[in-house]
Amino acid sequence: MTNLLARGNTHSEVLEDSFEPDTLNHVALMESASDFIVIITDGAGNELAHSDSIETEMRDVLVHTDFEQMPQEGVIVEDRWDEKEFIATDSPITIAGEHRGHVFMFAETNHIKQMVSNLRNQFLIVGLIAVALTVITIFLLSRLITLPLIRMKQATEQISKGNNQVRLTIDRNDELGGLANAITTLSNDLDRLKNERNEFLASISHELRTPLTYIKGYADIASRPNVSDEEKGEYMAIIREETANLTVLIQQLFELAQLDHNKFEIDKEYFSLDMLFHSVADLVLPAFEENKISMVIQSDPNISAYIDPKRIQQVLINVLDNARKHSPEGTHVTIRGTQEEERIVISIIDEGEGVPEVDVPFVFERLYRVDKSRSREYGGSGLGLAIAKEIVESHGGSISLKSERGKGTLVRIQLESGDSNAESSVGR
Ligand SMILES: Nc1ncnc2c1ncn2[C@@H]1O[C@H](COP(=O)(O)OP(=O)(O)OP(=O)(O)O)[C@@H](O)[C@H]1O
Ligand SMILES: [Mg+2]
Repeated sequence: MTNLLARGNTHSEVLEDSFEPDTLNHVALMESASDFIVIITDGAGNELAHSDSIETEMRDVLVHTDFEQMPQEGVIVEDRWDEKEFIATDSPITIAGEHRGHVFMFAETNHIKQMVSNLRNQFLIVGLIAVALTVITIFLLSRLITLPLIRMKQATEQISKGNNQVRLTIDRNDELGGLANAITTLSNDLDRLKNERNEFLASISHELRTPLTYIKGYADIASRPNVSDEEKGEYMAIIREETANLTVLIQQLFELAQLDHNKFEIDKEYFSLDMLFHSVADLVLPAFEENKISMVIQSDPNISAYIDPKRIQQVLINVLDNARKHSPEGTHVTIRGTQEEERIVISIIDEGEGVPEVDVPFVFERLYRVDKSRSREYGGSGLGLAIAKEIVESHGGSISLKSERGKGTLVRIQLESGDSNAESSVGR
């Protein structure tokens, strides 16, 4: 519209310079070649010249124009492009202050309407495509993210309900895949722990039942009327022994429970290995002498370890006790301390019967014994090495057992050497 008005103003300026029939025709001729239509009137609105044929709608514009109140720079007289067939402007021709005529410019609104309708269609198509893309994206995202998450949520709910056998088959390498694998691992671990706990409880009840059966049996016999005092004393001794064994077993179980809950306090200090070995030897020597087994201590007085001496003493007693119980008369048990780089290694070597190869992987398990019959000769409950392992591991160390049937057994305990940083890696 502004362009149209400017064009009309240019014509009116030309006509103000020369308001001659020639010029009028010239202007009309010029516009007949363009997309626009020009009508030039005199001051009263009578047509003087026009470029193209005049439509009725154009005449309406000519009639309704108020000539008197016309600004010099012209006006847009028809701007309803969406209703009318033409838009129109009116530029007055004023020569020497005298009102002489008008240049009316018209432009067809057809192609504007066409353009707008095209644009509208295009916007509609783009809008539809956007909606379709959004729907597809939401669908894909929900398949990619939400569905796996929902499945994982369901799996964790199953786990909390006690069903530990969930399998999440999500074949992805991203974070969601990692999470799914972690959940599967967690459920496997829970399942294993549950089974282990059940087995352990079954073993404990078995362990407790056996001595109690002895105690009840001997108590029954001892209370019969025709039992001699001598026999009674014998039975009482067995009952006392079994009771003592039970007390030890329960004490050991209690310690294990504490180790499990990290309630076991470990007071680390720098302690000489040599001193540790001798204090242990003092405690176990009477039993060794009784079995006619000699003990050899090999250690360097300069090696010190950062440990809780009472706890490690208990570990050594458990291991030495095994060596003694499983070694024949006249053999040696060696306890050796060495330093290997950042670590202290304690080796306990016996020349006893050894552990069968099939049993070696299990000796550190709770209540595991090579001799399954609860023979009164050995009398162990199978907790000694399990406790030793817990204590060594809570020191940040490790314990292992190597054995050759008939030749002997080596128990190797690795501990962090006198380095106070070790405490943080222990975390207990
Ligand atoms: N030095 C060894 N020589 C032969 N067998 C061994 C030796 N040390 C351990 N074992 C075998 O490993 C098993 C487990 O040992 P562990 O110390 O845990 O239990 P235990 O000695 O039977 O009972 P506890 O120590 O609780 O009295 C033992 O039953 C024993 O058969
Ligand atoms: Mg033992």
